[in-house]
Amino acid sequence: MAILSIPEKNIEIRNAEEIRAFFKERGVFFDQWTCDVVFDDKATQEEILAAYSKDLTPFMEQGGYQTADVISINKLTENYDAIRAKFLSEHTHSEDEIRFFVDGQGLFWFNLETEPVFNLLCEKGDLISVPAGTKHWFDAGETNPFVKAIRIFIDMSGWVPHYTESKLEQKFADFNVPK
Ligand code: LAC
Ligand code: NI
Repeated sequence: MAILSIPEKNIEIRNAEEIRAFFKERGVFFDQWTCDVVFDDKATQEEILAAYSKDLTPFMEQGGYQTADVISINKLTENYDAIRAKFLSEHTHSEDEIRFFVDGQGLFWFNLETEPVFNLLCEKGDLISVPAGTKHWFDAGETNPFVKAIRIFIDMSGWVPHYTESKLEQKFADFNVPK
């Protein structure tokens, strides 16, 4: 279940329909997919993709997406600090960034520039599509990260981050992840 926060306005929204409407008004696609399969730590990328194929396949066909993979980060991930830093600086991509959260959690931050920064706590079942060119950053936490997510691409090269160097993310470094 996702949680939307607008820190500067002290707003928190937990209702999925309200979250969906909020994102829709802003041209961001948000959805939730269900799946009854429980994965253990040894689940392969293929098993995870197959378990979600009933939603994943039509979504990819409709959007013209060519590839999907699974990214898995946990407390055993080597070089986590460097990985975290790559996502944590505000950036854009030349294609939509689509993430479906299979397990764990992470905060997706959005800077639409015309309104206060907001973030979405993404958890199991949440799908978010960050439109190309939208300023954003992502954080799975300073310590004990845990996130397993399907990434969906038109062309993997479109994913390269273009950093804005705004350092805006630092302004929100003390944000407490809602529980
Ligand atoms: C990315 C996210 C995490 O660029 O923003 O992969
Ligand atoms: Ni990104």
